[in-house]
Amino acid sequence: MARRKKVYEGKAKILYEGPEPGTFVQYFKDDATAFNAQKKDVIDGKGVLNNRLSEFFMKGLAQIGVPTHFIKRINMREQLIRSVEIIPLEVIVRTYAAGTLSERLGLEEGTALPRPIVEFCLKDDALGDPLVSEEHIIAFGWASQQDLDDMIALALRVNDFLSGCMMAVGIRLVDFKIEIGRVWEGEFQRLIVADEISPDSCRLWDVETGQKLDKDVFRRDLGSLTDAYTEVARRLGVMPSNVTHATKPTLIN
Ligand code: CDP
Repeated sequence: MARRKKVYEGKAKILYEGPEPGTFVQYFKDDATAFNAQKKDVIDGKGVLNNRLSEFFMKGLAQIGVPTHFIKRINMREQLIRSVEIIPLEVIVRTYAAGTLSERLGLEEGTALPRPIVEFCLKDDALGDPLVSEEHIIAFGWASQQDLDDMIALALRVNDFLSGCMMAVGIRLVDFKIEIGRVWEGEFQRLIVADEISPDSCRLWDVETGQKLDKDVFRRDLGSLTDAYTEVARRLGVMPSNVTHATKPTLIN
């Protein structure tokens, strides 16, 4: 196979040029990072799980009319996606308090919020992705007021969809982060869900036991991250539990 051109390499994924203009191939690595990459490790099988889980969530979103960048999964670690112009904001939706919200406001982790809350952080590793207000976003031109309204509406739809998916398998969606991109269709621009949706960017707690099934397992040294993500995939019926640990090539559908 001809060597592909690498377009971008991030902490957990690589983007290659796609087969057609307007497409990329998104490759999921096994690398895990936390605390702005101060903590790093390679977690066997994480990329395979996140590729499958992101496919599952993005396909489900498309089915309820939420546009995403996902086109199709190519193999165990790669998916074909639409290229988008990423809006330089992380969009966080919280239904329960955890992480930095708990620290900022002194709320016990797990406290139910009065309603889902949407927050924005500027995507800037050097600054540690600081929380920014809508005022900042408009004043600095990172997005327009119309973009902001559309991003909030999109994020809340994703929240309802993901919360329902997870609750159906006994998992509480505490919070999550998405990234949103612009695509141009003729003269019109639309905002679509981009990047990935996986346990790397969500907080997922077992409803009964409160067990964490997300990247906090890695951040807080709570056990095997692969086991946690495999449990999420297994409950959702996304993949058989032995695929990630295969030592030789395994065919998957
Ligand atoms: O995760 P952390 O405690 O640093 O920050 P947070 O603001 O409490 O994160 C809220 C949600 O967004 C969690 O589900 C994080 O996993 C996710 N997040 C992310 O995926 N990437 C970031 N750079 C920051 C947050």
